[in-house]
Amino acid sequence: MDPILVLTWEHEVIKLVLDAFRRAVARLDARGAFPAEDAGEFLQFFRQFADRCHHAKEEDLLFPLLLERDEIETRETIQCLFDEHVMLRNIIGKISAAVDSEGSVEAESAGVLAKNAGRYIEMLGSHIRKESCILFPTADKIMTKSDVESLRSAFNEVDMEESGAYRYQALLDSAKKLASAYGAIENDDDLSWLKPMM
Ligand SMILES: [Fe+2]
Ligand SMILES: [Fe+2]
Repeated sequence: MDPILVLTWEHEVIKLVLDAFRRAVARLDARGAFPAEDAGEFLQFFRQFADRCHHAKEEDLLFPLLLERDEIETRETIQCLFDEHVMLRNIIGKISAAVDSEGSVEAESAGVLAKNAGRYIEMLGSHIRKESCILFPTADKIMTKSDVESLRSAFNEVDMEESGAYRYQALLDSAKKLASAYGAIENDDDLSWLKPMM
């Protein structure tokens, strides 16, 4: 599979879970009732799938390659995207601090969680649009055939290495479960595309 298509597909998975997260956070009521068992699962997905699997592929492999191919064309965009990865990690830290070790949210932390969840959903959504609309078309333009091949095999290696440590398949199952539980899809058949890219 073309490595840019892999990243684009991962964006679709992340967007699905962002939609489920938005719906879950909207359920926060005045007493701070957040679905306890799911708060930790959302955090785990965003930390392990969005950040460690997906952002790592971009930061460690794609960004350096594009800078090498055309630094003048890509430097500004990549610096902005890299900074956003850092900001997104910081926001996840704040959301995490609002969720206790049992995965539940106390009433006094509900506002903090809702505010930071809103920032995270908005920033990651716009980050994904920037990559899909600006960086990825540039990547398609400036990468050579041999770059595509080497990136493809480097991504495969990352997934092979990471699948044990970060449970790639389990994270996709988690995305399915959260999307279904929070009405981010009409029915489970809509998720037939949600299986690992080959
Ligand atoms: Fe990114
Ligand atoms: Fe991305």
